Amino acid sequence: MTAKEIRIAYESYTSRMELYPQDRELLSAADAALDTAHAPYSRFRVGAAVRLSDGSILRGANQENASFPAGICAERVLLSAVSAVSPHLSVSSLAITYAGEGIDSSHPLAPCGVCRQTLAEYEDRYRHPIRLILSGQAGIVQVFTSACDLLPFRFSGTELPVSAFDPSGT
Ligand code: THU
Repeated sequence: MTAKEIRIAYESYTSRMELYPQDRELLSAADAALDTAHAPYSRFRVGAAVRLSDGSILRGANQENASFPAGICAERVLLSAVSAVSPHLSVSSLAITYAGEGIDSSHPLAPCGVCRQTLAEYEDRYRHPIRLILSGQAGIVQVFTSACDLLPFRFSGTELPVSAFDPSGT
């Protein structure tokens, strides 16, 4: 038996004021996205904003549904929109924040497992990492160099039969 260990390196800032102006700007866009959340069931609004490879910013928010599993997290709303609308651009950074009545938003929100899996595959598609900037409405901000850092031992699809990658396969 060999005991092994995984370490995750990330940056922790005491407040948004410590961030690079570009990252602060991205978080402000995520704040603005909170207004576009459709969260009548959880009342938990999540705002996301991406910096694209051409330097532009796009925003998105969680979109819920009365059939709860049909709801989509802010991160995946936004990644799908970028991929469908601007397929020639890639995502360099993603900022995420959250708010809601009576909710303590003074610490960062970590993306859910499904979003981590999705983010990891976007990194594969882009062949470069996606920086994550995680923040509440106040308090510390965490910055991860790569979304994959949040999902070690992930399912990467390499075990799938080759035909699963081939649209003409059976
Ligand atoms: N949510 C996100 O949008 N992103 C996450 O990473 C975690 C959860 C949303 C989904 C749902 O609309 C609400 O937050 C409560 O789970």
